[in-house]
Amino acid sequence: MNTKLDEFFEEVITVKWGPEKRSVDIIDQTLLPNSIRRIQLGSKEEIWEAIRKLRVRGAPAIGVCAAYGLAVLSASISADDYETFYRTFKEMKDYLATSRPTAVNLFWALDRMDACVRTNREKSVAEIKEALYREAEVIREEDVAISRSIGETGFGILKTLKKEGEPLGIMTHCNAGTLATAKYGTATAPMYMALEHGWSGSDMHVFCDETRPLLQGARLTAFELVHAGITTSVQCDNMASLLLKSGRVKVIFVGCDRVAANGDAANKIGTSGLAIIARHYGIPFYVCAPSSTIDMKTKDGEGIPIEMRDPGEIREMWYREPMAPAEADTSFNPAFDVTDHHLITGIITEKGLCHAPYDRAFEALGIR
Ligand code: MRU
Repeated sequence: MNTKLDEFFEEVITVKWGPEKRSVDIIDQTLLPNSIRRIQLGSKEEIWEAIRKLRVRGAPAIGVCAAYGLAVLSASISADDYETFYRTFKEMKDYLATSRPTAVNLFWALDRMDACVRTNREKSVAEIKEALYREAEVIREEDVAISRSIGETGFGILKTLKKEGEPLGIMTHCNAGTLATAKYGTATAPMYMALEHGWSGSDMHVFCDETRPLLQGARLTAFELVHAGITTSVQCDNMASLLLKSGRVKVIFVGCDRVAANGDAANKIGTSGLAIIARHYGIPFYVCAPSSTIDMKTKDGEGIPIEMRDPGEIREMWYREPMAPAEADTSFNPAFDVTDHHLITGIITEKGLCHAPYDRAFEALGIR
């Protein structure tokens, strides 16, 4: 138990209920690290926009936000009969599902809410609305437990690599931290667990890729880790090769948005390049994945839809003035890439650590 850390987690909690549970309260991640501001989302358009614009982001947090959102929206459906209620519910669910395409947790959470409605169809509409609030809460609570379990397995790996009197060099890409989940993150969970198990912040040295173009590593991961008291560096993405060659990094943990049945893993753009470099220098590369991120219906990475984003994110979004001429094409702006399963040392789920062949490993853990 680390009270200071828990207070920080509470302050930056990604998703919670707004007043009287009539809205979803999120921390606006587009404003971090310079301003910690919370906003309330009451309409379906606001929830959609917050997910689309990355005010709330990270695969598990998107799932929790969508579940909370659907509970709040359902409460205002004025219908007494199941058929009318379900028709409107389904329209809202389908609308939220269009906010972002890659993170499978979004669809998984929406489907769980849908299953909750259908399972309770014999009950009154008022009771179904209550059940939806409870289900959203369960999704959030499960996510906290899942992150802890991923963290414990990851911490087991850190212990095998730690040398007495030397900070352990760990690298991560994008943000798969508390801001991307309900509490501990996935890729950062091993580090938070290390603190809970008595390591000090200077027992580790975490290297955060800045993560162009939206800078989740610099703005979010570094923000989190610095608050947790962990020794933190930020480097530009294109410095990875030299950094890994230097021997300062002993292990890499990344999150993911969708893992296909064969272990191919979609994560923030730049992840696959990092995995290729890690293989070259023989550095273990782990993907941290709640089982809700594993999509057994998608055979391999070819089947994972990759979100393409606004060209303005490359040209001007984080700059005072445009940093590329207006005539230059910046339309190639994929939000994610797919890391080939051959490059992944292991996939850490809450149910255990998986090694290739991944389809069999997932099945052995009951992931179907
Ligand atoms: O576009 P983002 O910021 O939502 O991308 C997030 C990532 O790529 C994370 O690594 C992934 O969602 C895992 S979060 C535990």
